[in-house]
Amino acid sequence: MITLLFLLVVGAQAQHEWTYSEGVLDEKHWRLQYPDCGGTRQSPIDLKMKKVRYNPSLRALNLTGYGLRQGEFPMTNNGHTVQISLPSSMRMTTSDGSQYLAKQMHFHWGGASSEISGSEHTVDGMRYIIEIHVVHYNSKYGSYEEAQNEPDGLAVLAALVEVKDYAENTYYSNFISHLEDIRYAGQSTVLRDLDIQDMLPGDLRYYYSYLGSLTTPSCTENVHWFVVADTVKLSKTQIEKLENSLLNHQNETIQNNYRSTQPLNHRVVEANFVSHPHQGKGYLHMKQGSRVEPSLTCHPLDSGSLQA
Ligand SMILES: *[C@@H]1O[C@H](CO)[C@@H](O)[C@H](O)[C@H]1NC(C)=O
Ligand SMILES: *[C@@H]1O[C@H](CO)[C@@H](O)[C@H](O)[C@H]1NC(C)=O
Repeated sequence: MITLLFLLVVGAQAQHEWTYSEGVLDEKHWRLQYPDCGGTRQSPIDLKMKKVRYNPSLRALNLTGYGLRQGEFPMTNNGHTVQISLPSSMRMTTSDGSQYLAKQMHFHWGGASSEISGSEHTVDGMRYIIEIHVVHYNSKYGSYEEAQNEPDGLAVLAALVEVKDYAENTYYSNFISHLEDIRYAGQSTVLRDLDIQDMLPGDLRYYYSYLGSLTTPSCTENVHWFVVADTVKLSKTQIEKLENSLLNHQNETIQNNYRSTQPLNHRVVEANFVSHPHQGKGYLHMKQGSRVEPSLTCHPLDSGSLQA
């Protein structure tokens, strides 16, 4: 009865925009207007290291065209996040041979109080500061619009951000300086000469992989996720800029624009590494962009840390 009432209310006020935590269409109620959001293979999830299945046959992602691109790339405040349009000449070939073309890149962050992190995926319950999503569509379809409704239509390359107190990540300076141009929801600007490769973690070889959904309505369950194990480092000042620069359609600062983690249900998360190459005991302090020798990161199969 209450559900029915909500459907009527939400249906009658279709102009209501979805939110994370306020109003009629907060994330607990997305499913009333967007049924897929109540499905069984939703994203994001908590990546539990002990439950991850090591799959040595997962090869590194082959990213082509991610380096420096000349030109102008539209960047928009859509009221939920900042989104950069990407050219379809940026391509990702995954281990199973599927080829995906880039569509857009956007961010999720926290910031509602100075200690609140805002990544969507968590690792053993730990939430990172920011999460970067590069959204792609399967090249077997003619366009993103066509692919977004297909069961194998989308792939997202996700990266997590950590704070490195005073070291400005200069690969982000151009992007961050343009945030003030798009303070209001609906505003757009252009970024010139974009290098996405530089904005991603230095080591892209190791990742988690699982089948999930979009993390915003419509929550379509057709996303092959690739969450990179290495992280991006930003300075505290850079993080605060992203957390405080943009306003939503109600002129409120866009903060905590991340969805809660969803049940794994019967899914299995795979990874092409055993011990986390950049965390915990084997933690190697790395400079942005530096590479780790394979002998340091490919630990022999340790049955104690694996579960089928
Ligand atoms: C990566 O993909 C491109 C085409 O998208 C191909 O030309 C290249 O050989 C691939 N590289 C590797 C290492 O597989
Ligand atoms: C948001 O602020 C701008 C600039 O002050 C104003 O033009 C606009 O009407 C405001 N929007 C809302 C929904 O209050």
